[in-house]
Amino acid sequence: MKYTYYGQSSFELETGGKKLLFDPFISPNELAKNIDVNSLKPDYILLSHGHGDHMADLVTIQKNSGAKVICIYDILVWLGKNAGITNVHGMNIGGSFNFDFGRVKMVSAIHSSSMPDGSYGGNPAGYVIYTEGKKVYFAGDTALTYDMKLLADENLDWAILPIGDNFTMGADDAIKATGFINCKNIIGVHYDTFPPIRINKSEVTEKFKKAGLNLQLPPIGGSLEL
Ligand code: NI
Ligand code: MN
Repeated sequence: MKYTYYGQSSFELETGGKKLLFDPFISPNELAKNIDVNSLKPDYILLSHGHGDHMADLVTIQKNSGAKVICIYDILVWLGKNAGITNVHGMNIGGSFNFDFGRVKMVSAIHSSSMPDGSYGGNPAGYVIYTEGKKVYFAGDTALTYDMKLLADENLDWAILPIGDNFTMGADDAIKATGFINCKNIIGVHYDTFPPIRINKSEVTEKFKKAGLNLQLPPIGGSLEL
């Protein structure tokens, strides 16, 4: 499956002939000016929580593409009321569902969640995606948490973890998280977008390497084969 990075925590997985777009925050991101939001035509948009740096472009991209949104049930209600978006699959923490590209499990994240207008956004979430015989974990915005140990026996192939610190776990806690989830192939997200989450990429890469981990930090617009 193909991973393409769009900055902050936004990325696309192309799998089983479908395009899954995660946490679209692109047009307000000064670092992502090379990405044209109107060129994105996903089949699904998966949302981890309601913060602007995860859903700023969700409504535009959903209207352009007709994509089905996958999110926590509370955000399903908000999208219907506030954006007239009804092609939404609501889930909640711990639940999984079979879609036409594979299975999605919604898992817990330790963070906060509110909608752009300040209204209730339910709990923040992460996802495990089961597709093409592979398992990929997207942690969403989260602190390091013992709940991650629940994934230890999943045999995850890849994990997409926030590493920028301040609003989420930073690199050191993300390295601890790799032990909790038992996964060595990591893609870092949620860094560099704003001053408090700027990282020294070579230092962070070196830390992961010393811990025996494969950390990938593709450029915005760059792709990886998972
Ligand atoms: Ni957030
Ligand atoms: Mn965030």
